[in-house]
Amino acid sequence: MSNLNSFIQSLPKAELHLHIEGSLEPEQMFEMAQRNGVTLPYADVAEIRAAYDFNNLQEFLDLYYAGMSVLQTKQDFFDLTYAYLKRVHADNCRHVEIFFDPQGHTERGIAFADVIEGILDGLDQGEADFGISSHLILSFLRHLSEEDAFATLAEAEPYYDRILGVGLDSSEMGHPPSKFARVFAKSRELGLKLFAHAGEEGPPEYVYEALDILDIDRIDHGNRSLEDDVLVQRLVEEEMYLTVCPLSNLKLCVVDDLKNHPLKVMLDAGIKATVNSDDPSYFGGYLNDNYIRTADALNLSKDDIVTLVRNGFEGAYLSPERKELLLSELSKNISASN
Ligand code: HPA
Ligand code: ZN
Repeated sequence: MSNLNSFIQSLPKAELHLHIEGSLEPEQMFEMAQRNGVTLPYADVAEIRAAYDFNNLQEFLDLYYAGMSVLQTKQDFFDLTYAYLKRVHADNCRHVEIFFDPQGHTERGIAFADVIEGILDGLDQGEADFGISSHLILSFLRHLSEEDAFATLAEAEPYYDRILGVGLDSSEMGHPPSKFARVFAKSRELGLKLFAHAGEEGPPEYVYEALDILDIDRIDHGNRSLEDDVLVQRLVEEEMYLTVCPLSNLKLCVVDDLKNHPLKVMLDAGIKATVNSDDPSYFGGYLNDNYIRTADALNLSKDDIVTLVRNGFEGAYLSPERKELLLSELSKNISASN
């Protein structure tokens, strides 16, 4: 392993943009299909992997929702979550803030309680076994109506104290943040944090809407903000954190080559960018792969890596004690490598 790669591996890290359903590995998909009597349109794991060749966000989403069909029981959601934490423990990931898409399951007749309780139990077990702290974010599917989002928010009521906030994901074009103005205002009244995917495929105007109309606390992706200098300046001044997902951007053709990924431009502009994996089993890499391949493609320095890792902790919703602990561990790792 190169020097920089082992440095990346050694650092404690956070992951702030991860869809738990997007961590469903083909092997696990097959296993769950078998135990739940679900028929998949693939003969084997190799066929699944071969199908993961996307030209845009929608082509991915079609397979992502189809893949979810194997998730049926509370145990499935537990297993999915636990497997993800076990995997990122190997990447020295110490804190995660993960999305789940309840509407992708309740639409298929799965009980909301089974979904969220399976995931929460998985997070608890992961904390006990791997020392990974975590938060859960309920994401609304933006291709569905705001009324549907309201119904989902109501279903979550018994769990408000166990979720960090709400997010907005799925097909971006044609579904601007303003479509969800009321349900985000209601979520804010409930004391929830607000997140939204914006500027992944959508124009800078969608990022403005996420800021001005939804009043979000953190932007997911945000790549296309760079097309608007005034917006860039605003993101810098407001210290708005962006959860950037390089391998996702590559697989979904948001960038044509990792060498053209805007991560370094973001850092140099003073934007608070973080590195994340989004849907690692579909996009070909977990957290460290995202750091390593991007560092290689963009010639990132050790200082750039440290800034990205530190941004991950600063942009997270950590308790003050936990934040201090992780930042001091980070400092020790940096000193040890010098
Ligand atoms: N973008 C939008 N919706 C999503 C994504 C994404 O990258 N992953 C899972 N749902
Ligand atoms: Zn995402």
